[in-house]
Formats: sequence, C-alpha cells, structure tokens
Amino acid sequence: MRRLLIAGNWKMNTLRETATALAGALAEAYPQEPDSVEILVCPPFPYLLPVRDAIDGSAVQLGAQNAYHEAPGAYTGEVALDMLLDVGCRWVIVGHSERRHVLGESDELLNKKVQAALAKGLNVIYCVGEKLEQREADQTEQVLDHQMETGLAGCSGDALAKLVVAYEPVWAIGTGVRATKEQAESAHKHLREWLASRYNAELAEQTRILYGGSVKAGDDQQKQETYELLCQPNVDGALVGGASLKAEEFKAIIEAGERAAQAGTNA
Ligand code: PGA
Repeated sequence: MRRLLIAGNWKMNTLRETATALAGALAEAYPQEPDSVEILVCPPFPYLLPVRDAIDGSAVQLGAQNAYHEAPGAYTGEVALDMLLDVGCRWVIVGHSERRHVLGESDELLNKKVQAALAKGLNVIYCVGEKLEQREADQTEQVLDHQMETGLAGCSGDALAKLVVAYEPVWAIGTGVRATKEQAESAHKHLREWLASRYNAELAEQTRILYGGSVKAGDDQQKQETYELLCQPNVDGALVGGASLKAEEFKAIIEAGERAAQAGTNA
C-alpha cells in the first residue's frame, strides 16, 4: 500500500508574511499526519527557514523546488543540497517543466541533480510530462520513456527508494485544463510499467507516482474530480501549484486524498 502524498509547489509566489501564514494555517490543521496521507510544502528558497519554523512540530514536511548538484563552491546564484539539508528540507523537486522548458535545464543536468540529491538522502520528486503537440502526435509514452531513461540514468534500484515520480502534462500546468482521470491513469500505469521493466516489479509497486497539472478543489465539482483522480489505482497523490497557495483549497485536496485512501482503490 503506497501512502498518498499531497505536495504544494508554491513556485515563485508568496512573500514572507503570506508564506508563514499559509504554512501556519496548514500546521494548525495538521498537527498529526492524517491516515494514509503525507503533506509537503515547497516554498521559495528565501522562505524555507521561516516556513520551517511555522510548520515545526506539525505533520507538514518541507521541500525545495530546485537545487544544484555540485558541492558548495563558486556557483553564483545556485543553492547546494547541503544547504537544503541544513535548513531542514527532506524533499526536493527536480525536473519541473518550468525548469526544463522555461529555464532550459537539460536531461543531463537533471540526471546529475537526481543522482546527487538521492546520494544526499533527500526525497526527490522527479517530474516528467509531455507537451500538447507531443500528446497530439501520439508521442506521450515515448516522451515519458525518454525523460525517465535520461533522468534516472546511472541510478541503481536501491538508490531509488526515495524517488517519487510526478506526471505533469505540460498542457495541464497552470491552464485549468486537467488531464482526465483516464488520461492520468494511463500515463501513470505506463510509468509504473517502465519502472518494472527497467528495474523490477517490487520497486515499481513501491514507487509513488503523483499527478500534477490544474489539480483544484475550489468548488464541489472540483473536489469530486480531485477525489476521483486520487482514487485511480496508479495515482498516488498530487503535486499542486496554484491551488496550494490557498490554505482552504489545499486542505480540501488533502481531504480528498484522505477519502480516496479510505476508499482503498489505490494499489
Ligand atoms: P498547477 O501547477 O497546479 O498550478 O497547474 C502544478 C505544477 O506545476 O506542479
């Protein structure tokens, strides 16, 4: 049984006051971890420390949105993995589509980041996902295979114990157009099969695969859709952007996860 993970990717949003207020509201709501759901927030770098203090002693975990793979040194503007560990981060997101397509991070660079972060003992959320034109050209699975192959190159099965994969179709991110539960389930199943064939069935069974891209819970219909998405057998949680910036909406997504876990439809 895989524990659901509901992760908030705050991107380049919040200021110190809004970041700590948001984190504080979540910490207050979740002094203890709900049954079967882990909760994570990934604030911008400058607010990692104040957010850490705001969630201290609660069930909310702390992650970063990016890091550089090299040891501390002359890399102007970058943040080392040791620094993340030093401020209490247990998680780091690698390969988000905005890093791939807006900031131009290459497959090779992402592979170095994945390897270095896992070697440091961090939990890694490795993001993959196709662009709209790739889906329309029926290349989704090829794109996912390529991103998995390149991103995880050189990683042994043992090294992947702390890996979480996030399927984030680029066309669904920030657009309000979420993948249907069938589209998500099909991609997740494919990713799990990739893990089974490239590594082994046990690793594939244990690895959590999150869905990301316009996951919302702003009204009853969205709550229901999120619940149904999280009930898919191969969907093990969500990586949430915009909706993670509103405490009430993020809590509603966590609640949808709790209900899905209770329904027991996940593998
Ligand atoms: P969104 O972003 O929920 O705002 O679509 C998701 C993500 O980019 O992780």
